[in-house]
Amino acid sequence: MWNWFILMLILFCMFYSSKSSSVRHFPSDFMWGVGSSAYQIEGGWNADDKGESIWDYLTHNRPDKIDDHTNGDITADSYHQWRRDVQMVRELHVSTYRFSLSWPRILPNGYMNHVSNAGIKYYSNLIDELLKYNITPMVTIFHWDLPQRLQELGGWTNPEIIPLFKDYARLVLELFGDRVKTWTTINEPWHICEHGYDVEYNAPSYNFPGIPAYLCGHNLLKAHAEVVHMYRAEFQQRQGGRIGITVDTSWQEPRNRNNPDDLEASERTMQFYLGWFAHPIFSRHGNYPKVMIERIRNLSKQQGFGERSRLPEFTTEEIHRIRGTSDFFGINSYTSFLVSPNDHNNSAGFPIPSYNHDVGVVFDQNGVDWPSSGSEWLRVDPKGMYHLLKWIHREYNAPMIIITENGVSDRGGLADYARVDYYNLYLSAVLDAIEDGVNVRGYISWSLMDSYEWKAGYREKFGLYHVDFNSPQRTRTPKISARVYANICKTNAIDWSYRPELNEQQLQAAARLPAESVARTNSAATLSWSCTLSLLLLLLLARHC
Ligand code: BGC
Repeated sequence: MWNWFILMLILFCMFYSSKSSSVRHFPSDFMWGVGSSAYQIEGGWNADDKGESIWDYLTHNRPDKIDDHTNGDITADSYHQWRRDVQMVRELHVSTYRFSLSWPRILPNGYMNHVSNAGIKYYSNLIDELLKYNITPMVTIFHWDLPQRLQELGGWTNPEIIPLFKDYARLVLELFGDRVKTWTTINEPWHICEHGYDVEYNAPSYNFPGIPAYLCGHNLLKAHAEVVHMYRAEFQQRQGGRIGITVDTSWQEPRNRNNPDDLEASERTMQFYLGWFAHPIFSRHGNYPKVMIERIRNLSKQQGFGERSRLPEFTTEEIHRIRGTSDFFGINSYTSFLVSPNDHNNSAGFPIPSYNHDVGVVFDQNGVDWPSSGSEWLRVDPKGMYHLLKWIHREYNAPMIIITENGVSDRGGLADYARVDYYNLYLSAVLDAIEDGVNVRGYISWSLMDSYEWKAGYREKFGLYHVDFNSPQRTRTPKISARVYANICKTNAIDWSYRPELNEQQLQAAARLPAESVARTNSAATLSWSCTLSLLLLLLLARHC
């Protein structure tokens, strides 16, 4: 009996130590990348003939809506520093750089009657420079900076946005498609619609709960689908590229996994958050998730809206036209939330009607030991990434997944060991999912450099590179995480033992930077649970041998 027990223990230990050994390799064709977005890094907000975006408008007219009252007028000045950006991308050993095009830099008013040559030249140069060094550009056509003139027409709530987005997309596909082979139409529809129209976190900052967010989503899905159909009909064969969408969600962890109500709340939130945009495109039958259609229809009726649900309906033809319009599943995810049902009395206190009230759950991050970060909403729960990938795999019939954004914020400093831990932990979770059969083909870290973090201004830093926002050149310096991520991309593996100290270049830079950047402590390595478990089992084994 004891012999059998010891044998099982040895096998268990071998299994665990292989899983938690300090080096773990990714599949040989795994794609590594790093990302940024136009408004967050470019600056040059009115350079040459660039038009005003909704973020220019919001930050200039309502600075009070931004935590530190700043704007992206200059930010990291990539409009001028783009050569240095490409150099950084090279230093990271990634094969892909994901960046976005600014619609008002290319079409200042949003319309085709004014095309900016300066804007086109800027992106053309950037693409050429990347290709010169064998770096694949992955281009997002829209990452939140809508031309302000189009917002004055209602932005994404006006169906007129569909042909306008198509015109803009046709132009950029025509201009850059000879060199760009991976496109995403739109970054994070959920954030655009829910945070822009339902609550006032993102431009255009409507604070009009329960109605326009769903109109936004409806038009956005149709606009996305039209662009993909156009690409497939007019460009794909001749240019030989691929096109998709990037959706986003946090993992919605049931507050208590033994409570069926919490399990249901988790599933419902996944459907309302990720499913709102992923179900119409990736599911077998298309359309919005059933639970969304039914809940919003019933609540609309109860709330006196009559027979017409606040969630617009697709025609059968539209359902077919939207379904299948993505060559890959682009997912952005950073964190997890705990969910349980909101009771009938709405003790969560959501406005009625509102998206949050429609979802009908209470969500927070209280009572868990997930480490915190530089952002209030972002806690470190790598297991959540594993659950999310498995959920996507199950729900959408094993799509080819590219993680188009994942990363963590802090409040500054070059010795960012917490970010190193985050990457190691989240990438281990991704690898666990791959080993369990999920088809994840690439990972794009967020972000190349510190940048304008939307409503949070410059306080929250996601960069692998530090940017000195006080220097005229916006000097960039690699953080420790940049060196670790470069090592991951170069070796195609996570190596927990690789935790370099600040080198000479970093020390010199640190000496010039404000005190927050100088912290040098190499915080103790975060021991993963599996690692701890292995140690315990080994100790146990030693006692029995
Ligand atoms: C956005 C990025 C942003 C990141 C961190 C994502 O939702 O696509 O632009 O910087 O989250 O907040």
